[in-house]
Amino acid sequence: MLIASIVGARPNFVKLAPVSRAIREFHDEIIIHTGQHYDYQMDRLFFDELKIPEPDYHLNVGSGSHGWQTGEMLGGIEGILLKERPDIVVVYGDTNSTLAGALAAVKLHQRVLHVEAGLRSYDMRMPEEVNRVSVDHISDLLSCPTRTAVSNLAREGITEGVHLTGDVMMDILLECLSIAQERSDIIDRLGLEEKGYYLATVHRAENTDDSRRLGSIIEALSEIGEELIFPCHPRTEKMLRKSGLWQGLDERIRIIPPVGYLEMLVLEAGAAKVLTDSGGVQKEAYMLQVPCITLRDTTEWVETIEDGWNVLVGASKNAILDAARNFEPTGEQRQVFGEGDAGRRIAALTLSDNDK
Ligand code: UD1
Ligand code: UDP
Repeated sequence: MLIASIVGARPNFVKLAPVSRAIREFHDEIIIHTGQHYDYQMDRLFFDELKIPEPDYHLNVGSGSHGWQTGEMLGGIEGILLKERPDIVVVYGDTNSTLAGALAAVKLHQRVLHVEAGLRSYDMRMPEEVNRVSVDHISDLLSCPTRTAVSNLAREGITEGVHLTGDVMMDILLECLSIAQERSDIIDRLGLEEKGYYLATVHRAENTDDSRRLGSIIEALSEIGEELIFPCHPRTEKMLRKSGLWQGLDERIRIIPPVGYLEMLVLEAGAAKVLTDSGGVQKEAYMLQVPCITLRDTTEWVETIEDGWNVLVGASKNAILDAARNFEPTGEQRQVFGEGDAGRRIAALTLSDNDK
């Protein structure tokens, strides 16, 4: 079979790595890169570190409004899918690249496999929620990371083609953690002590594009009174500069450029606590058994909350400070993200789809 994987943004690359490896054991694969992310640290670094094969096609779409960006991708992807005629198109997560890939494929009557299907925040103001809901409803094969994801789909009437595979981010974390810890000197380089610092990431539109929310988060991070490492997404840097917050940043917030996946794992594993609005980072904190404080009002990863390892604080300064000082995990983890064999299970789905 010929499988086409469509990616474009940082979290897509992390999910592609284990799936692509598993798929290539059985099939030919082409990788289509939309160009949604393009800075070295948001893009190339992940292909190099995770040994992801070179994309066969690169659309170089770049940044823009949602409609424009998705439209550009849609046209570009359609041309490639018409030429290549893959048996299955695989899309990953919930970015605009995911939506464009699924939409282009379904309109050509090509089969769509959605990796990380069934996640819901039930907040349609999030661009990612619009993307997830739309993609799930036009996919033929749905790879769910958790049982909650399977039930979410069932509630929307999606039961056919749904498979509980576990989470591909568990696969890549298990594969890379010890290698990352052996190879990376980031803890020493930044002069940190294991469990002697906090780690923060912020990039979600609801936090960056609202200067009151962003200001409140930054104030809270400054007042925690612990050393805090902040690998900064380019979107966040842009908004911090635009709102004037960049100039007044407290010296206890150590902003660094985005880091690669391996260094990120090392920073996460070594942190006393993680503060984030990232979906992937919430999961990784849970997998690494690091307490997580989530700078959002909702989360798709409800199991991390139910197990007592994650707490939702939104952008309220007091709630962030309270959690930073007092939140401690309360429960045993159920290890809800699978065994680290999700990539293999997804490849098996493609094999059993052969006669469709
Ligand atoms: C996208 C995804 C989001 C995901 C995030 C991961 C959508 C709707 N959102 O959000 O789900 O969590 O990626 O990181 O797809 N920029 C650069 N260099 C880059 C990439 C982006 O400077 O390499 C800047 C540009 O100013 C751009 C802004 O970041 O306008 C936002 O980029 P975009 O890809 O539109 O959305 P993200 O916020 O990255
Ligand atoms: N990540 C990284 N470097 C960073 C920040 C994040 O490697 O500086 C990784 C993170 O560990 C996770 C993935 O990027 O594997 C998550 O992507 P992101 O937070 O950009 O998006 P989300 O998961 O929120 O969609």
